[in-house]
Amino acid sequence: MIVLGIESSCDDSAAAVLRDGALAASVVSSQHAVHGPYGGVVPELASREHVRHVLAVIDGALSQAGVALDDVDGIAVTRGPGLVGSLLVGLSVAKGIALRRGLPLVGVHHLEGHMLAVNLERPVDEPVPHPFLGLIVSGGHSGLYLARAPGDYVCLGRTRDDAVGEAFDKVAKVLGLGYPGGPAIDRLAREGNPRAIRFPRARLKRGRFDLSFSGFKTAVWQWVRDNPPTERELPDVAASVQEALVDMLVDATVEALDETGAERLVVSGGVSANRRLRERMAAMGAERGVEVLVPRPALCTDNAAMIALAGWRRLAAGEDDGLGLDAVASLPFGAPLEATA
Ligand code: KG4
Ligand code: ZN
Repeated sequence: MIVLGIESSCDDSAAAVLRDGALAASVVSSQHAVHGPYGGVVPELASREHVRHVLAVIDGALSQAGVALDDVDGIAVTRGPGLVGSLLVGLSVAKGIALRRGLPLVGVHHLEGHMLAVNLERPVDEPVPHPFLGLIVSGGHSGLYLARAPGDYVCLGRTRDDAVGEAFDKVAKVLGLGYPGGPAIDRLAREGNPRAIRFPRARLKRGRFDLSFSGFKTAVWQWVRDNPPTERELPDVAASVQEALVDMLVDATVEALDETGAERLVVSGGVSANRRLRERMAAMGAERGVEVLVPRPALCTDNAAMIALAGWRRLAAGEDDGLGLDAVASLPFGAPLEATA
């Protein structure tokens, strides 16, 4: 079965092809150059860029896989959450192809894509065994989820305010490092001392697995205002900011591992491309006997291969969401913890 995946939830236009669940091609067109001057994603510009690039990206994925549209057996598209204007571009193209070709179409939750991305690096018949804990950390989301069985997720906690990627991006903006800020901080931090400055780590008492990054953002902003760093001090600031954010993620993850007894941890989403986070999670896993799985960086950030993979089993089972499928800007993921207690 050949599945075409389409992803356009934020600022990456992406398409991918899976052949019987195995990755055949993945193409991502990034809009960083367009949003860079604004220091963040401008939704209306994002939608227009998707319109300009989505067809070329789909053509690129098909030709890279060596297949034609005629060979495609089903389409998987991100239906949410995300910027609604951006989502609608991918969804409209997917519906157009499905209608014209009489193909089944399934809508995929973006976070399920991130949860499953790691399976793209494993043999098709050996996905990560359930149950596993998933930490999803990106520019739009930060949460801890328990995958109990295929398609069965529990939301243990998520951010109460900003996503951790947003904290990376905003701090980078304050430091004049450009957008997206995560990779810039990651790079600069390699030459800095993570213990140079002690930034506060937010801990929530209620909603134990919930995360919060907006207070941290303000604390760094105030610190930078009161102690404007010189060029030479920037690596220390970057390393210290990164260490604080990574500490918060590791702490919440350790608590969730204790609580659930999960023996496997998947870390995914754009921020999981962060070198220090990968190092610290690997060390934590080795110490606790937990298997830590992190996809290669290109599969951590937004891509359509993960969307195609999440849709593939449903398409193979004969599911079809049909042309009534809607884009949804805010779409919860996983059953709430209280409902499963
Ligand atoms: O998953 P993603 O591509 O898009 C969303 O769904 O949001 O994540 C993008 C986020 C941005 O905030 C970016 O700064 C962050 O991931 N990011 C990183 C790194 N690479 C990307 N953050 C820290 N270190 C990195 N190396
Ligand atoms: Zn994402």
